[in-house]
Amino acid sequence: MKIRMPLIKTVGVCVALAFSSAAFAEEPIIVKFSHVVAENTPKGQGALKFKELAEAALPGKVDVQVFPNSQLFGDGKEMEALLLGDVQIIAPSLAKFDRYTKKLQIFDLPFMFDDVAALDRFQASPDGQELLNAMKSKGIQGLAYWHNGMKQMSSNQDSLVRPEDIKGLKFRIQSSDVLEAQFRQLGANPQKLSFAEVYQALQTGVVDGAENPWSNIYSQKFHEVQKTIAVTNHGALDYMVITNSGWWDGLPEDVRAGLKKAMAGATEYANQLAAEINDRDRQRIADAGKAKIQTLTKRDIAAWREAVRPVWTQFADEIGKDLIAKARASNEE
Ligand code: LMR
Repeated sequence: MKIRMPLIKTVGVCVALAFSSAAFAEEPIIVKFSHVVAENTPKGQGALKFKELAEAALPGKVDVQVFPNSQLFGDGKEMEALLLGDVQIIAPSLAKFDRYTKKLQIFDLPFMFDDVAALDRFQASPDGQELLNAMKSKGIQGLAYWHNGMKQMSSNQDSLVRPEDIKGLKFRIQSSDVLEAQFRQLGANPQKLSFAEVYQALQTGVVDGAENPWSNIYSQKFHEVQKTIAVTNHGALDYMVITNSGWWDGLPEDVRAGLKKAMAGATEYANQLAAEINDRDRQRIADAGKAKIQTLTKRDIAAWREAVRPVWTQFADEIGKDLIAKARASNEE
């Protein structure tokens, strides 16, 4: 049976629908970008640059909202929030993915990369780029790598030169099994804590030490609650900027292309700035005169390197020996 609708009513319904879809089309797509560090860090600056570039490229089409300092989600919750669609972009440290893929543990192996330039070469290589897709089956799409800097060991002791100097001390670590193994190997007690908890944990002696790049030490004032920072450069703190792959794939083509371009621009900007910010903050820490910066000799560094070497063997099967060899090769230009 045919249902007859009076013509005037049909036209009315069509007009109403057209108006409401036009209203929808004008609503910008909200892109929440949450992170855990301060704005005056490489990641903080990169996120703001992404907002600027994305909104300039897609005027009225996107509204990028940046939430620094664990304001929206701390690092314990942000991944879950991304998968639930409560936030669209986050940039966790590469140490925080082992629940989703073991491959990214490559970035946590101590003394894997001699410096950020080597790390950058590996990330730009086909193997490094492929790792951006390593969590696709879990609903996570990697968009870019962002640098922070090399990590330095710090503690509440007067001297921190040799690996045996941290024996028996409690160290805050990110949620990474490799980092846990690293500190166990050194005879220290690792404790997984979220980034927002670190200052207080150091201040109250819940932990004795930590490992951080200069920019995080300075922006979180860790140097005010540590006595010594040893220039160990024993690992890198770098990020993968990620999004929810369902959300990303469902974006209108032009919006996805615009965001991709904005991400490329923000990546270039943040990665150029990272070394500058870390150098600046190392100097600021020195000028503040609170924690002593202890430089190490080549022999001291060799002792640290030797002490943590078994961690590589421990994780070689999970990560893949081939991938480890390729990452090592990136140290040669
Ligand atoms: C940490 O937890 O130490 C870092 O991942 C924080 C950050 O995002 O730089």
